[in-house]
Amino acid sequence: MQQRIMPIGPLMKEHRVIERLIRMMIAELQELSNTGKPDLDFIDKAVDFLSVYADRCHHGKEEDILFKGLDKKPISQEHRGIMERLIKDHVYGRKTVKALVDARQRYGQGDNSVVKEIIAHQKELIEFYPRHIEIEDKHFFLPCMKYFTQDEQDHMLQGFLAFDAGLIHEKYKSLVTP
Ligand SMILES: [Fe+2]
Ligand SMILES: [Fe+2]
Repeated sequence: MQQRIMPIGPLMKEHRVIERLIRMMIAELQELSNTGKPDLDFIDKAVDFLSVYADRCHHGKEEDILFKGLDKKPISQEHRGIMERLIKDHVYGRKTVKALVDARQRYGQGDNSVVKEIIAHQKELIEFYPRHIEIEDKHFFLPCMKYFTQDEQDHMLQGFLAFDAGLIHEKYKSLVTP
């Protein structure tokens, strides 16, 4: 019999990918504390990863599909509380990435005094992501699956695939849309 994949499977795999980026940021931060010079190429790549992959693609599926699905179910107070906290976390993640982008731009314009800000925002992200991921992996995803029937879970998985399929078009169409 074919093994069924729960929709949280791909989300948890994405967590492992996000953790790899966080490990790279930790190494970069170590380098930065030695040299005092931010690697702008790395920061640009990390920001693109965090904005497109971690936020639009990963948080997008959580918010637009999983959380919306849960919102229609009679979930426990505990799970509703965790979900609200996770949504607030996503807002914090976006705000912190934006602050990092702003600091990086000012550094690019020659303002060396923002190195401290660049370090601080990277530290915030390094602390934030593992904490957020741990809540989802260990206290939320699996217990939440019980609110959905097998068919609903299959439908959610298909929804995730369709969501992902649209993203590459969204990203590049936005570059050429006047
Ligand atoms: Fe999340
Ligand atoms: Fe997540």
